[in-house]
Amino acid sequence: MNRLPLLIILIFGSASASADYDPSFKIGKEKAKVCMTCHGEDGISTIDPYPNLRGQKVGYLISALKDYQSRQRTSGLAILMQQQADTLSEQDMKDISYYYSVLGTKQEEE
Ligand code: HEC
Repeated sequence: MNRLPLLIILIFGSASASADYDPSFKIGKEKAKVCMTCHGEDGISTIDPYPNLRGQKVGYLISALKDYQSRQRTSGLAILMQQQADTLSEQDMKDISYYYSVLGTKQEEE
């Protein structure tokens, strides 16, 4: 028996595990809608003092959000982010950070 069709199914099967079908990515994207006003639709901000989030490390994003929430980040425009972080649960922070960490990486395109 020719095993090629099976191989093709396996390849496409693994492709469907990518960002579009990744439930965590979708949940994060949904929760990140409010962030897009300032951090850009694609995680690249259009306003100079607002940072890009696209492709940032997940651990860094989570710790930054926690620092805004606990008021350990206070300089510059941090007040804007403190208000944002106040509305987020621990799970929201994880979901949104995961979304931004995957955005624009190979994992999203696969
Ligand atoms: C009103 C505009 C605004 C909104 C809405 C907003 N941010 Fe921000 N964000 C900023 C600004 C300005 C900074 C830089 C703050 C500073 O100086 O520390 C920032 C910084 C950050 C940082 C730190 C980035 C770094 O490189 O250190 C993270 C993470 C972040 N925002 C995530 C989010 C998330 C997640 C949301 C949605 C829940 C969000 N932001 C919504 C304006 C905004």
